[in-house]
Amino acid sequence: MSNGDANRLASRDGKIPLHGPEAFAGMRKAGRLAAEALDMLVPLVQPGTQTDTIDRLLLEFALDHGAIPATLNYRGYRYSSCTSINHVVCHGMPNAKPLKEGDIVNIDVTLIVDGWHGDTSRMYPVGEISRRADRLMQVTYKSLMLGIAAVKPGATTGDIGAAIQTYAEAERCSVVTDFCGHGLGQVFHDRPNILHYGQAGTGTILEAGMLFTIEPMINLGKPHVKILADGWTAVTRDRELSAQFEHTVGVTRTGCEIFTGSPAGFDCPPYRLENAA
Ligand code: MF3
Ligand code: CO
Ligand code: CO
Repeated sequence: MSNGDANRLASRDGKIPLHGPEAFAGMRKAGRLAAEALDMLVPLVQPGTQTDTIDRLLLEFALDHGAIPATLNYRGYRYSSCTSINHVVCHGMPNAKPLKEGDIVNIDVTLIVDGWHGDTSRMYPVGEISRRADRLMQVTYKSLMLGIAAVKPGATTGDIGAAIQTYAEAERCSVVTDFCGHGLGQVFHDRPNILHYGQAGTGTILEAGMLFTIEPMINLGKPHVKILADGWTAVTRDRELSAQFEHTVGVTRTGCEIFTGSPAGFDCPPYRLENAA
């Protein structure tokens, strides 16, 4: 979610929604379907594959399973997914250009199932990739998981951001600050805002029943981003590589539940097809 949207949400009054068992059941279903959609793509992300083909397959998968992609016609966005290649940070638009050997691509999908939103993204290597691209993906995945590990009642949103930033910067990478994670549930983007940087102990105190995404964007170079003339595509200003992983989680009494874990075990590359469920 962009900072502009985050500020609009933050300035709205009222409390952050707390959800009960029925919501958790709904989120479990939506999150699982979104994760299965990303699992389906693993063998298809190869040199020569067009991202608009991936997008069409995601739409078909959604409709076949009684779901709707949340991004379709969302604020004028016309695709079922975002496909962000190499120096594209997020909100890349699917198109007819074939993926090429050595690319790394983030595929981000949000599926609405029975009204609940499951929002998740992963990185996919295209053929053989460079060691630095692989390192960036590993650092980004680990930063997401460290952020998730900080989630429990009484912890704060700043604890999540601090866990991510401290680790990513120790790995000589930078954290994108122009976009953040977000509350969700029966709406796509809600409070709380989840910054991927910050100070432990600051921000919103987490409570059981909160639902949100954590979706750090980590760069090999500088953190600065610009939006292309299409109004969506965010790229690194220095054109260095960027990576992102996203999970949807719910705060429980003891920690959190990840709704978008991969049933096939494809949470982070390398994806070994022979290990698939
Ligand atoms: N799925 C993205 C997120 O993680 C949102 C994409 S909005 C779009 O919040 F319109 F660009 F698709
Ligand atoms: Co999201
Ligand atoms: Co997303």
